Amino acid sequence: MRLTCLVDDNSGTANPLSSVSKAPGDFLAEHGLSILIETDRGKKVLLDTGSSEQTFLHNLGLVGLRPRDIDLVFVSHGHYDHLGALPLLLREGVPVHTHPLTFQGRRFVETSGVRKQIGPSAELLSLLKDHPPVYDGRPKELVAGVSTSGEIFRRTDFEKPASFLIEREGETAQDIIKEEQALCVSTRNGLVVLTGCGHPGIVNILTQVRMHTGRKLLMAAGGFHMWKAETDVLLKTMDGVKRAGVNKVAPLHCTGFAATKLFSDRFPGFLLLGTGCSMEI
Ligand SMILES: [Fe+2]
Ligand SMILES: [Fe+2]
Repeated sequence: MRLTCLVDDNSGTANPLSSVSKAPGDFLAEHGLSILIETDRGKKVLLDTGSSEQTFLHNLGLVGLRPRDIDLVFVSHGHYDHLGALPLLLREGVPVHTHPLTFQGRRFVETSGVRKQIGPSAELLSLLKDHPPVYDGRPKELVAGVSTSGEIFRRTDFEKPASFLIEREGETAQDIIKEEQALCVSTRNGLVVLTGCGHPGIVNILTQVRMHTGRKLLMAAGGFHMWKAETDVLLKTMDGVKRAGVNKVAPLHCTGFAATKLFSDRFPGFLLLGTGCSMEI
């Protein structure tokens, strides 16, 4: 199985010491996430699509692929920085899987009293009418060896999404991003858990996957959304991820520098990935 970080907030660097490679060419980084999974049976599954079509297409080309080469897209949740190239993939007829709530309501983030829309674009919402995704919030195998986590039960008291709002039928409420699901990729040495933003909390996600599957967790990679987390939350998260028993940790996207530094200090299996980085697992 091969993982490639097609889009991330940071540019990646090859690291032969940790078996991280990078295809030649000038990859573009942007705020967002897209991870390509190439299974041992030759299937190409995408977790999310970054913020923009331009960046996604450019980087996909550098790894020698076209949108129509993708077998399936899994959308982790309904934020724009994961939906950018979805219109392009829908127009190419690539099947899309996601939770039934992903495209429901209008999503906002509020900073210093200012609201910013962070949901799907009008173009995407219009395209979805003619190209409906497969909606499911239960754990499900998408292709052999790649499954969804199902909706995440919130167990911890310290992993709480803040600042997010959702407007539905004229009512505005706090948005806990209930729809966010992770992907679980099966390998000989355990499961690789891939997260979009990790809004339900990386400890909640890993705990649920372990309880539901009964499998050993080999690796957690993706956005862990800890860039605004207080120190006590960071420390509790490190302990929780340790207890979940993951061996390798690759924080990306919205994890934030402080959390990434702590993961690097505390996990011998820490991996620094970024846009363009690939690894065989
Ligand atoms: Fe994100
Ligand atoms: Fe998000």
